[in-house]
Amino acid sequence: MRRNESSSSRPTRSLVATVATGTSVSVPCDRTCSSAAPCIRGDVDRYLELFDHGDDYTLIVPFDHLAQLARGLDEAQRSTVIAVGALDGRRIVVTGASSGIGEATARAAAAAGARVGLLARRADRLEALAVEIGGHAQAADVTDAEAVAGAVGRLAAALGGLDAVVAAAGTMHLGAVGEADPELWREVFDVNVHGLLATARAALPHLGEGASWVTISSMSGRRVPSAAGGVYAASKHAAHAVDETLRREAGPRGVRVTTVAPGFVATDLMAADAAEREDVGAFRERMHAQGLAPEHVAAAVVHVLGLPPEVCVVEYALTSTAQQR
Ligand SMILES: NC(=O)c1ccc[n+]([C@@H]2O[C@H](COP(=O)([O-])OP(=O)(O)OC[C@H]3O[C@@H](n4cnc5c(N)ncnc54)[C@H](OP(=O)(O)O)[C@@H]3O)[C@@H](O)[C@H]2O)c1
Repeated sequence: MRRNESSSSRPTRSLVATVATGTSVSVPCDRTCSSAAPCIRGDVDRYLELFDHGDDYTLIVPFDHLAQLARGLDEAQRSTVIAVGALDGRRIVVTGASSGIGEATARAAAAAGARVGLLARRADRLEALAVEIGGHAQAADVTDAEAVAGAVGRLAAALGGLDAVVAAAGTMHLGAVGEADPELWREVFDVNVHGLLATARAALPHLGEGASWVTISSMSGRRVPSAAGGVYAASKHAAHAVDETLRREAGPRGVRVTTVAPGFVATDLMAADAAEREDVGAFRERMHAQGLAPEHVAAAVVHVLGLPPEVCVVEYALTSTAQQR
């Protein structure tokens, strides 16, 4: 249990949970542990006493104590448990890494031991995150196929190859077909479909046997949630089809393709539109009131990436329990 522990000093088979200062976590355990990792047998409070008190603590916990730890954590704390070491040495590019789900995925992958390449348009945010998690940043617009090919190539070179790509770059505009501006349809399809295809085209040559491709699609790729969400849903149905195509194209050479389909997630998606439009503001309020945290989706992605190479998760659909449809 250390604050800001570096990845090099982390035990390889353990779990990490961030716990707020002053939290009392009681972890009953009467098992004999053979792990070399620091043991939290007994009471976590004893461990908290061994280190300086700061804002947050990171508990490094041997895998065989996970059940005990989980019983001692409350619901919010449990959601932050990430498998440390599950992605040790893996080289992963995350698109859309400057905010929301992509940013949370990059952080979670780095916490799990991966070396991470970050791609999006906002260079300042990428560079700050790269410094924080020890990653590499390349600013590019995914709708520009040449730019994204160059950026993915440079990230692969910096990482010494690629084991996985998580394609989280995406956008959304609300508006019924009869009312919306066709330019907005074009932007949604440019980013969510053409951008996804351009990213795949850039990444596939770098992905070999056992490597992973993960698309952050949406529950809107499985059903149409509303008239106003129909154009976005059409783009996400296309994202599901792109993944099915990639499974056929790269699956035979051992590349695993996973479509992650979250419901509402509390992020900045459509933040710019919300300032101008009441309907968008109301939709975003619901996203934030009912949505998953981006970290929940990130934990799902880390789980998928951490599975053995002979296991391919085809689709991972998840919503908050509060979201009924
Ligand atoms: N929030 C939800 O309720 C929800 C639910 C299901 C699925 N999703 C999907 O999750 C993914 C991530 O969205 P989010 O919710 O995390 O929203 P977000 O915080 O707005 O993240 C979107 C990311 O995509 C990047 N991006 C957008 N256009 C791009 C472009 N042309 N080129 C490169 N990068 C671009 C943005 O970075 P830059 O602006 O810096 O380029 C940003 O990093 C999207 O595919 C979204 O459709 C979201």
